[in-house]
Amino acid sequence: MDKLVIEGPTRIKGEVVISGSKNASLPIMAASLLSDGKSLIKGVPALRDVTTMIKILKALGVKVASSGNNIEIDPNNYKGNVAAYECVSTMRASICVLGPLLAKHKYAKVSLPGGCVIGPRPINIHLKGLRALGAEIEVEHGYLIAKTKGLKGATIYLGGPFGSSVLATANVMMAATLAKGKTIIEHAACEPEVVDLAEFLIKMGAKIKGHKTQTIEIEGVKSLHGAEHKVIPDRIEAGTFILAACATKGDVLIKGAQVAHLRALLDTLREAGALITIKPDKSIRVRAARRLNPVDITTLTYPGFPTDLQAQMMALMSVAKGITIITEKIYPERFMHIGELNRMGAEISLEGASAIINGVSSLSGAEVMASDLRASAALVIGALIANGKTEISRIYHLDRGYKDMEKKLSKLGAKIKRVKNK
Ligand code: EPU
Repeated sequence: MDKLVIEGPTRIKGEVVISGSKNASLPIMAASLLSDGKSLIKGVPALRDVTTMIKILKALGVKVASSGNNIEIDPNNYKGNVAAYECVSTMRASICVLGPLLAKHKYAKVSLPGGCVIGPRPINIHLKGLRALGAEIEVEHGYLIAKTKGLKGATIYLGGPFGSSVLATANVMMAATLAKGKTIIEHAACEPEVVDLAEFLIKMGAKIKGHKTQTIEIEGVKSLHGAEHKVIPDRIEAGTFILAACATKGDVLIKGAQVAHLRALLDTLREAGALITIKPDKSIRVRAARRLNPVDITTLTYPGFPTDLQAQMMALMSVAKGITIITEKIYPERFMHIGELNRMGAEISLEGASAIINGVSSLSGAEVMASDLRASAALVIGALIANGKTEISRIYHLDRGYKDMEKKLSKLGAKIKRVKNK
């Protein structure tokens, strides 16, 4: 297993170009299963999760060819309808093939995802939505077996205990494109990745309205065709570099991100004292001349502060000038990074779903372990601030979601290297 070795502290400086969004790419790749022709998806980051999705599509009999960041998906005459445990267990987003397979074949067998380190991640909302469209779904031997005599449009409330669900909205929206009649999804997720998926489906011939709002209307069509689409930039990668720039008191120009997708983060950081300017070409210059002031945050569904930046924000606030409270409303157990940040000298305690962070003046390098994708990014930020050497093990988590993280940070002046563990 590879490790990252980072020598801190470093002020990161320079320019970084943001890659295409992982969480937009995965459902869009799954959506291509709905069509009868080839789709070309551009800007897809070459990440481990994308490779897993390619593996799932190929196992279904779909032809997939990738060149650089472009992926061509040809679902013509694919016959498969099974997504096996070996893929689904490594990537929960595999669940988003369920809706398309069911709509296309009237049958799908998809492994249940199983446990997750960021807390329980049930799929009851996905099942509720698909059942409302006329699917019968049972669990047998660890697999969801979904069947239908033909999906029919329905009005469905998709809210759950933590608000809307991104991939449940994606699954139901995809299935509804080929259902008979009109579907209305109430309390739909409006994350930019859901909007991007809707825009891809519309290019494929789907009839969708309201996809930037909490009420999405889908008028079913008989068939969909292939389409060409460029995925949106990765707002979480952009946010991670923005937070790293603030934490290291750096000066970084973030290129290729969409400012509108980052509003909650940028406003919070301005409030904390960061200097953020938007250039005429829409690149974002982030500077922090000094330690930031504490700002309490609560993670919420979009356009609220994203849970996928909570851990990285905590790394930044671990060296703020005072006490910060970070409340997690999406995954109340997503706090595995606290213990590791504390090993680096942070002072963070947990009360229920709120972390109380007593800002310290500096962190110190240590051997730490990544527990999930965004926790890994928080440890990287911690290591950039810390005095001395930090070794982060289980870095494969980072590779699931960040394209060339260490190369991009090296270019910004970080002393970071990947070490192969024998
Ligand atoms: N939930 C349910 N029942 C369901 C589905 C979700 O109770 O059937 C709960 C979840 O347990 C959670 C909340 O609803 O408490 C929201 O989960 P959501 O379904 O929105 O999450 P997701 O669609 O499975 C996507 C991203 C996650 C991101 C969340 C929230 C992808 C591939 N994954 O997951 O990204 O945290 O939305 O924004 O798009 C990451 O990239 O690190 C990551 C975990």
